[in-house]
Amino acid sequence: MKNIKAIIFDAYGTLFDVNSAAEKCKNKIGDKWEPFANYWRTIQLEYTWLRSLMNRHEDFWQVTEDSLDKSMKVFKINALMKNELLDLYRVLSTFPEVSETLKILKEKKYKLAILSNGTPSLLKELVSSNNLENIFDDVLSVEEVKTYKPHPNVYSIPIKKYQIKKNQFAYLSANSWDVSAAGNFGFNAVWVNRNKNIFDNLDYKPITEINNLSDLNNLL
Ligand code: LAC
Repeated sequence: MKNIKAIIFDAYGTLFDVNSAAEKCKNKIGDKWEPFANYWRTIQLEYTWLRSLMNRHEDFWQVTEDSLDKSMKVFKINALMKNELLDLYRVLSTFPEVSETLKILKEKKYKLAILSNGTPSLLKELVSSNNLENIFDDVLSVEEVKTYKPHPNVYSIPIKKYQIKKNQFAYLSANSWDVSAAGNFGFNAVWVNRNKNIFDNLDYKPITEINNLSDLNNLL
């Protein structure tokens, strides 16, 4: 990738481990913590897509709580655990390589930003609880356009902010469908394929695929 001026990161699943909330409760939830966490994430995303199509936007915290309610019923998890799981979701952990990689990219003087479904206050808390306040130039939320990824209006948020060409952006996401959307929009979209998954067939093949963010240092 050449002439990249700004690097945009997806948040949930790319920088922050969405399964870490349920994992921290695995003693109470038992072996089903992982299928439960995956189901919660799936329903959460489905609700974002469905709400966008229905034109009935509610913010990501509401969607996270609504999807948790359903998932707890499906997996028969004690209702008293709801607040603990939600509190942990506000302070999700980063993946192990994230902090070091971001510091190196910052030293290389790229503009660094998050573009996420999360609300501004959720994203602020995630960034500060993981000591990343001095890393990002901007933390951009879909709340600016009141619809969710993969709507193109979301990907135009950084364009308005930085006034640089689409092909001067690198876009990093672990969510294959998000990579497709950002790539179709015109960004250099890179897939962070943490779990050796198969890429979706949605009119875009990623510029490249990496196993985790540390591989980015060789690309840029
Ligand atoms: C986000 C979701 C898609 O952070 O992971 O926008």
